[in-house]
Amino acid sequence: KIIILDFGSQYTQLIARRVRELNVFCEIHPFNNIPEIDYQEVKGIILSGSPYSVHQEDSPRVPQISEWRKKLPILAVCYGAQLLVHTHEGEVKRSETREYGRAKLITVTENPLLEGITNDSQIWMSHGDSIYSLPDSIEIIAKTASIPVAAYHFKGEPTYGLQFHPEVTHSTDGKKIVENFLVKICKCSQDFTPAAFAEDTIKALKEKLGNDKVVLALSGGVDSTVAAVLLHRAIGENLHGIFVDNGLLRKGEFEEVLETYHKMGLNVTGVDSKERFYHKLKDKTDPEDKRKAIGYTFIEVFDEEAKRIQDVKWLGQGTIYPDVIESVSVKGPSATIKSHHNVGGLPEKMNLKIVEPLRDLFKDEVRRVGTELGIDALILNRHPFPGPGLGIRILGEVSAERVSILQEVDAIFINGLKETGLYDDVWQAGSMLLPVNSVGVMGDERTYENVVALRAVTSLDGMTADWCHLPYDFLADISNKIINNVRGVNRVVYDISSKPPATIEWE
Ligand code: XMP
Repeated sequence: KIIILDFGSQYTQLIARRVRELNVFCEIHPFNNIPEIDYQEVKGIILSGSPYSVHQEDSPRVPQISEWRKKLPILAVCYGAQLLVHTHEGEVKRSETREYGRAKLITVTENPLLEGITNDSQIWMSHGDSIYSLPDSIEIIAKTASIPVAAYHFKGEPTYGLQFHPEVTHSTDGKKIVENFLVKICKCSQDFTPAAFAEDTIKALKEKLGNDKVVLALSGGVDSTVAAVLLHRAIGENLHGIFVDNGLLRKGEFEEVLETYHKMGLNVTGVDSKERFYHKLKDKTDPEDKRKAIGYTFIEVFDEEAKRIQDVKWLGQGTIYPDVIESVSVKGPSATIKSHHNVGGLPEKMNLKIVEPLRDLFKDEVRRVGTELGIDALILNRHPFPGPGLGIRILGEVSAERVSILQEVDAIFINGLKETGLYDDVWQAGSMLLPVNSVGVMGDERTYENVVALRAVTSLDGMTADWCHLPYDFLADISNKIINNVRGVNRVVYDISSKPPATIEWE
């Protein structure tokens, strides 16, 4: 595998994406929390960029690098490249013109790292400092029209530096450069494929779990389903899945998803706890209070169900890599560590060991593993759906009656997206039931009924989002269907806010 050392660059995850796309396994570690390197296992190290300048007093330093250089190939990017030469008598200075965006790479010396890269290939720069001179022990292998060192090589050893960012897609040959490093220099075998991942994971789970029982909360979403299938292939009926109906799911979803799980041969118990959730939500109108009530009730129900299973030793979770990566704070070396869990609060309460088969994968890799395992595309391509479900899409107090209204509205909207082929162009869609009534007229009668808002967004990761420019004809048709078919709704509006400043959910 490859280790990527994170100095806090916004692009660190992209380096990992490129390496994984080349079917080589890699891990990101923050520069101030580096694990012991196993030289049998690790084939090379990549140093990321950073918002720091090497001249800042508190800029990241890694004393271990000189030790690694004796044993492993190193590719240093941007800040990483500056750091290496700065500590080896090279000169790094504030650039006279700060260089951001495109530049053309001019090869100076033939080199395995740049093999097959055409001259004038477009590269992407993002730096305030530049490398101006190098000692004799380091050779320049490429430059650009405005900087003398775009790429360098420590003579006689597999240590390389790049001033530009090969990991961004705007660096046209960037992926080829990363491939050269991995294949020609580190001699990695490109065998990290979804099929190999599934096979290795199932084998490792078998060894780790033996005859132990595992309990896992299923949600109908991609991550928990893929985790369940891997565990099921490893330990069969010893995997006990629990799927809770919190009364806040989509119309018919509980029955459909449960049936799909049973068809897949999974050992899953469905638990109808609708009334219990509604009871806990009574009189609650504040969004965070509702979230807490839903979260705590879920933990109670799950805990009770898990206790019915004799001798459970493990809690399975669908945690994925972005939830695990410790990101380096750009504000200072006192790194803030982010830690999320899919089912927050569960592990603390239950005295169980944790098993997380997807901890090393990015979302799209989870999907590819899911495809490899033969999981239905309907589950793999589902829009994200929040844990508290319709509970945070019914603004104000939640009741069985209001859930039922919103379920009907939501079903018309989502089925409409599916029927018109728009579903896959949208990242997430849903509807909100507002806590106000509006006046309308139906036939000769005045009505005073609910307003619903439709929301559909495009996004990559949910961190930022834009509203979807759905066709007017489609919106007109959906609005008609909703008002004509859902009793209690007389007005439909479409949300045209982006995130930020709005959020995707209304609560
Ligand atoms: P926001 O509303 O913050 O949503 O723009 C971003 C993404 O997170 C989902 N979301 C949640 N998911 N529990 C969840 O499991 C929650 O409490 C929650 N709140 C928002 C939201 O659906 C969107 O995909």
